[in-house]
Amino acid sequence: MLQETAQPLAETTTEGNAHVELTRLVKHFEEVVAVDNLDLTIERGSFTCLLGPSGCGKTTTLRMISGFVEPTGGDILISGRSQRGVPPHKRKTSIVFQEYALFPHMTVRQNVGYGLKVHHTPKAERTERVDRILEFMGLTSMANRLPSMLSGGQQQRVALARSLVMEPEVLLMDEPLSNLDAKLRVRVRTELKEIQRRLGITTIYVTHDQEEALAMSDRIAVMDEGVLQQYGTPWELYFNPNNRFVADFIGANAFVDVRIEELTDSTVGLAIGSQSIELPRASITADIENTGQAASLSLRPEGIGIRPAAEHDDTADERRTLHGTVRMYQFLGAYVRYWVAVEEQEIIVDDHNPKRRGILSGKVALHLGEWEAQLFPATG
Ligand SMILES: Nc1ncnc2c1ncn2[C@@H]1O[C@H](COP(=O)(O)OP(=O)(O)OP(=O)(O)O)[C@@H](O)[C@H]1O
Ligand SMILES: [Mg+2]
Repeated sequence: MLQETAQPLAETTTEGNAHVELTRLVKHFEEVVAVDNLDLTIERGSFTCLLGPSGCGKTTTLRMISGFVEPTGGDILISGRSQRGVPPHKRKTSIVFQEYALFPHMTVRQNVGYGLKVHHTPKAERTERVDRILEFMGLTSMANRLPSMLSGGQQQRVALARSLVMEPEVLLMDEPLSNLDAKLRVRVRTELKEIQRRLGITTIYVTHDQEEALAMSDRIAVMDEGVLQQYGTPWELYFNPNNRFVADFIGANAFVDVRIEELTDSTVGLAIGSQSIELPRASITADIENTGQAASLSLRPEGIGIRPAAEHDDTADERRTLHGTVRMYQFLGAYVRYWVAVEEQEIIVDDHNPKRRGILSGKVALHLGEWEAQLFPATG
């Protein structure tokens, strides 16, 4: 279990050096509010993810930064300069799309050099820059191949090389890995992150994949329906979601309807149907103040212990134990995920050491960890 003092291993952000600033940014498409008063400060050299469900305004935000979509209101500053009226090709940004859109009849080298050619970069400089980026990206041996002779991951690298050769200050990527299969996606995201780190290039990356965002980002901006829900490090978002939406979107959570029974300086007593438990007061978000109040308890599957009811010793820590019945399970190799019915509600529990006991069924006792639970105001 996590100690109170646990900290993320490395903080890689370059605090206090704003590179891209969105101020009260708004985009309306007729009656649709795609982006609603978005304020965001992105540090120089950082990797920032825009994360959220389909239609939440991620692509629209990225396109406003690149200049392809005109904001309805607010402003975008790059290195402190307003981008109002600055056309896309004059911005210090470059965008990599989900469809790599490589030219099929051009070799890797020609694809990568195309932008420089359009910008009338002299031939000698062009050759040198293209060679350098091909080398950097490990593409030299494929320089004379056509895109059709490359794997999906290699094509994605060419698309990235084509952006990087332009030496943008800000690299924008819109779901660049979504055409790759699951295994390759994990490998390419590790590569991408390593390239970003080596170049120290400010990167804004759009994804709806929470795992990708957690794995890659210095900071994540979670959006819903055009509105920023939380902006923080992966660690902050995971362990201190500031609302139910963020808790629900990041990680596999169960939400349980509870009633606040007792509040002390250090603890909160909760009723779940006819059962009672006690959690640290620190589990509470600001909006819960009264006993008798209905609330929603968010539980991380990895924060709950599970054992057969017969093995449960009810003299032990009963205030942290819930009793339920296994409804369903999935064996996922490294762990078994259980869906456990507790007072007609459902709690998800992961047993990360399944070989010890085999698959459980029937009546079980659930032991709640201290720091994985959060209480939010009841919805509806
Ligand atoms: N050109 C457009 N005209 C009208 N509505 C648009 C236009 N572009 C986007 N929208 C709307 O704006 C909202 C935000 O769209 P956006 O493409 O930014 O979402 P997204 O977060 O990138 O979603 P996805 O994950 O599906 O790519 C959606 O409701 C979408 O239908
Ligand atoms: Mg999109």
